[in-house]
Amino acid sequence: MNPELSSWCEVSAGALRQNADMLRRRLGGRRKLAVVVKADAYGHGVGVVVPVLVQAGVDWLIVNSAREAVGVRKVAAEHPIYVCGPSLDFDAPAIVQARARAVVVDADVVRALGAASVAVGIVTPVHIKVETGTHRQGLDPRAIGGFADIVRGTAGLRLEGLTTHFADIEDTTDHRFADRQLQTLLDAHAAVGDDDVLIHSANSAATLLDERTHGDLVRVGIAAYGLWPSKETQAAWLERRMSSSQTLPPGENPVLAPVLSWRARLTQVKDVAAGAYVGYGRTFRATHPTRIAIVPIGYHEGYDRRLSNVAHVVVDGVRCPVRGRVCMNMMMIDVTDAPAARPGAVATLMGRDGDEGVSAEQLASWMGTIHYEVTSRIHPGVERLLSP
Ligand SMILES: Cc1ncc(COP(=O)(O)O)c(C=O)c1O
Repeated sequence: MNPELSSWCEVSAGALRQNADMLRRRLGGRRKLAVVVKADAYGHGVGVVVPVLVQAGVDWLIVNSAREAVGVRKVAAEHPIYVCGPSLDFDAPAIVQARARAVVVDADVVRALGAASVAVGIVTPVHIKVETGTHRQGLDPRAIGGFADIVRGTAGLRLEGLTTHFADIEDTTDHRFADRQLQTLLDAHAAVGDDDVLIHSANSAATLLDERTHGDLVRVGIAAYGLWPSKETQAAWLERRMSSSQTLPPGENPVLAPVLSWRARLTQVKDVAAGAYVGYGRTFRATHPTRIAIVPIGYHEGYDRRLSNVAHVVVDGVRCPVRGRVCMNMMMIDVTDAPAARPGAVATLMGRDGDEGVSAEQLASWMGTIHYEVTSRIHPGVERLLSP
C-alpha cells in the first residue's frame, strides 16, 4: 500500500475476518457474536470496519451512543445495532430513527423511547443493565423485577435483554469477583421470569476465557481488532489450557491478528552535529553526528507526547528512536542507521515493517496506559484505508 498521503492507517480486512472466524468457532455457532464498534471502531474507522464485519457474518454491531448509532446505520443498512452506553430522554428519537436497540436504566428514558417508537409505528427492543459490582451504568438487582414491568407496560417497547459488564475480568487471573457478578445477573434474570429475555455479559476476556459467561450473545471489542485484552487474560488462558479446564475446548487456540497499522511519510531529513539539540525544551542533545527525520504526526493526531524520547518508529525495517519532544503536529526521529530515510519514505508508527514492528501494547506500555486508548485516540482526520 503506497498512497499519496502524509499519514494513514491500514485496516486489514483479512485480519478482521480471521478474528471474527476465530470468535465464531469459540462460540460454537450457538450464541450471537456482537462486535463493539464504538469510538469509531476503537479508532479503526467505522466506515471501513463495519462493511467487513457485516460480510464476515457478525450478528450485531454495538455502539456507545445514539449519535454513533445514526453513523453506523449509514454503513450498515439492515444490521442490528445496540447502544450500550448511557442515553438521556432527548436521545430517544435518534435511537428510534437508527432502528437501534438500547440499554435502559431510567424510567424517563423508557417513556421517551416508547413515545418516539409509537410516533413512527415501530417497536424498539430494550435491554436492562443490571448493577453487579462495577458501579458504572446499571440498576440495583432488587429493582430489576419492577423496572422490567415498567418496560413491559410501555407501548412501543419490547424487553429484549438483560445485561451486565464485568469490572475486572481482564485485570486479573482471579475471576471470583466476575463469578459473583455473573451469579447476580443470573439471579436477576430469574426474577424477570422470562426465558425469552436474552442474557449477556461477556466482553473479549470473558468470551475467550469462560463459556459460562456467553449467555445468548457476547459483546467483543478488542479481540475483534486482533489484540488480547491484557497480559492477565493471556496468562489466564494458558493457565486454563494447562489445567485442562472443561471450560475451554481442546485445540482451540485463539490466534488474534492485529488489524491496524499506522504509517506516515518522512517530510525532511537533516544532519544534526554532535552537541546540537532536537525539539522543544532541548530535551535531546546529539552526542555524535546524527541524521534526523521529520514525521508529520504529533500529539494532535494521537501520537502521545509521553512517547517523547522513549518510543521508536520503523523505517524500512530499521528501528528509529523518537528524539526530543513530540510536538502538536510533528516529531523527530533518529534515522542515522536507516539508509532508506529520505523525504517521502514510509515510517511505521504502529504495525509491522519487515522483521521489526511496534505493537499497540508496546506503545501503551511506553505511555503508561492501555492499548484501547492507543488505537481509539488516533485522530479521525488520519485516513483509514482498507487493505486486503
Ligand atoms: C458494555 C461493554 N461491553 C463490551 C465491551 C467490549 O470490551 P472489550 O473491548 O474488552 O471486549 C465494552 C467496552 O468497553 C463495553 O463497554
